[in-house]
Amino acid sequence: MAKSALSFVCQNCGAAYNRWQGKCDACGEWNTLAEEDTTGATTMPAGIRSRRKSRLFTLETLAGKTQDAPRLSSGMAELDRVTGGGFVRGSVLLVGGDPGIGKSTLLTQATSLLARAGHRAVYISGEEAVAQVRLRAERLGLADAPVQLAAETSVEDIVATLSEGAVPRLVVIDSIQTMWTDTVESAPGTVTQVRASAQALIRFAKTSGAALILVGHVTKDGQIAGPRVVEHMVDAVLSFEGEGSQQFRILRAVKNRFGPTDEIGVFEMTGLGLREVSNPSELFLSERDLGSPGTAVFAGIEGTRPVLVELQALVAPTSLGTPRRAVVGWDSNRLSMVLAVLEAHCGVRLSGYDVYFNVAGGLRINEPAADLAAAAALVSSLTNAQLPTDAVYFGEISLSGAVRPVAQTSARLKEAAKLGFGRAVLPESARGDIGGDTGLTLNTVAGLTTLVAEIAARGQGRPGKAPDPEKNATPARFRRQDG
Ligand code: TYD
Ligand code: MG
Repeated sequence: MAKSALSFVCQNCGAAYNRWQGKCDACGEWNTLAEEDTTGATTMPAGIRSRRKSRLFTLETLAGKTQDAPRLSSGMAELDRVTGGGFVRGSVLLVGGDPGIGKSTLLTQATSLLARAGHRAVYISGEEAVAQVRLRAERLGLADAPVQLAAETSVEDIVATLSEGAVPRLVVIDSIQTMWTDTVESAPGTVTQVRASAQALIRFAKTSGAALILVGHVTKDGQIAGPRVVEHMVDAVLSFEGEGSQQFRILRAVKNRFGPTDEIGVFEMTGLGLREVSNPSELFLSERDLGSPGTAVFAGIEGTRPVLVELQALVAPTSLGTPRRAVVGWDSNRLSMVLAVLEAHCGVRLSGYDVYFNVAGGLRINEPAADLAAAAALVSSLTNAQLPTDAVYFGEISLSGAVRPVAQTSARLKEAAKLGFGRAVLPESARGDIGGDTGLTLNTVAGLTTLVAEIAARGQGRPGKAPDPEKNATPARFRRQDG
């Protein structure tokens, strides 16, 4: 057999080279190239290389009838929302997330609910023993669900076993990094193994019509470890996110061939597993620090659903030559833009200040509509002027300092009214989109200067404020020029 010319494979991105080098040209990572035998994966049919006969293993119990529906609801509304209405037959989903975030918990719950509904649902754990998975199910109160369970890592055995009997409606593989196939000789977890294993499992899903969920580990920089290649092979990539210390977990579609990618599913990790949060605003606003300057509530839209979330800013005098700009949950370029507009058009001097910005609850905001709320929080922190606690903010800020309208004004206002807010600060030009009485006091602003002046006025004469707010937060045309 001729040896393949390409035998050094980057363990990060899967690029192949014919000689070793310190840095991968494709992804820029150092020391990630490892020698692998890639010949088997590409040139030899599986049957020839596979020297050992596939062994059948027993699955725990068999659930009854199978139903045919193009989409299979998982029984968890938040999961269905992210997948676009349930699992599609023969589709493959990759669920990524940090270790310990709750991927196994989420998928144990989903398979159990499906099995309870009478579908054949299989959970294959490559990381935990059957007893461990059972223990978790017991803790979740799902031990009675007729899930078919196995602790296996050989792809050939898994495919052979799953091909027996009725086609499973859902197969969970936890995780793809632990799977191995005899068709390639590399160690489990290497790019070659992961790719070949995923290929074999995906082939099974496509031919049988079973929905397949692959669990993938995530590296510290947020990539699904090793198999970036797998992301291209699957139909949908979901990422399960959250701060370890907080109870909120957010499921987000990164790629979805069968549904939208802007929907989020919100869960809360409790002692009894993941609880679905159907009204995320209540959760994100549940621990508000009322009465402190530097916070503003943003009325946002995630997918089709309005979500209210608190934005927090801390503006503090810097001791460094280059002030710090630290952002969590928002785009740092967006923050720089808002800071530049405040500086250029509103006379707010921020170059001598460190700026820290945070979105409460671990949510990540992508909407430009958050500009106005962010600006309000920043100015509020700088001037030590508390914003009204019953106000929500939304609107996009243009580079000229104008406040531009954003989509779905009435949905945002309705959600704010529902949660007991009394007023909204919104773009002047959005007036036309407001359908009927919202029950809110509407404070429309045409330009950022107006908003800054209003907030600065609130901060005047208050004790314990930031150094000289007049100099920093008064519109440029009113500002004293100091020598
Ligand atoms: P797990 O699903 O094992 O995470 P992953 O598969 O993503 O690595 O979840 C592990 C964490 O979840 C663990 O730190 C404990 C916590 N947990 C709860 O708080 N409540 C529960 O009911 C369960 C099952 C787990
Ligand atoms: Mg796990």
